[in-house]
Amino acid sequence: MQQPTRIAPSILSADFARLGEEVRAITEAGADLIHVDVMDGHFVPNLTVGPDVVKALRPLSALPFDVHLMISPADPYIARFADAGADIITVHPEAGPHLHRTLRQIASLGKKAGVALNPATPVDAVDFVIKDIDLILVMSVDPGFGNQSFIDSQYDKIRALRSKIDTSGRDIDLAVDGGINAETAPKAVGAGADILIAGTATFTGGAGAYADNINRLRGGG
Ligand code: DX5
Ligand code: ZN
Repeated sequence: MQQPTRIAPSILSADFARLGEEVRAITEAGADLIHVDVMDGHFVPNLTVGPDVVKALRPLSALPFDVHLMISPADPYIARFADAGADIITVHPEAGPHLHRTLRQIASLGKKAGVALNPATPVDAVDFVIKDIDLILVMSVDPGFGNQSFIDSQYDKIRALRSKIDTSGRDIDLAVDGGINAETAPKAVGAGADILIAGTATFTGGAGAYADNINRLRGGG
């Protein structure tokens, strides 16, 4: 069942020179999760941060850390992100040959397992692993960069996944990542999403604006 909307700021859009302060600021501003985008310059055409950065940020917030791995292969690094303090580890099915094995590895480390679907990836990619999934992340932009426009075809995918999750009877979060703003957020929630991942829309306007930005995305006006 769809849960009340939670907001996961993507720290990809934070000021990297002041990353710790930014994590504290979004925590105080009412964020529900901290979304960390990990990129390898191979699976996606950009490079970001690794487990040491997750470890350094971990003590600064009590919120769950939602680590989105846009790396291939992912398997050799999963234990390191788990040790660094990730609570949810999300992988792309295209990033490795054995999605089921990868999800079981995440679960064996006591972490929640997520599957991220690129804009062109069909929803049935999750069908035979649904019992091993705690979160499904719909990429509403091509992964790799912040501040891109929401791809409209993904609303139908969110609807299809909402119905799949409800039919499964399992407690699976449905997250949307990319191009979330005051216009797309209510549409994504209307289609069935319960976690909105937002980089640009959270971090616009400096720390004084974060609480309003988060509140607006959550539907609080
Ligand atoms: C893209 C990342 C997103 C991105 C979202 O590859 O997965 O989390 O940072 O950024 P915005 O909200 O700016 O589209
Ligand atoms: Zn992400």
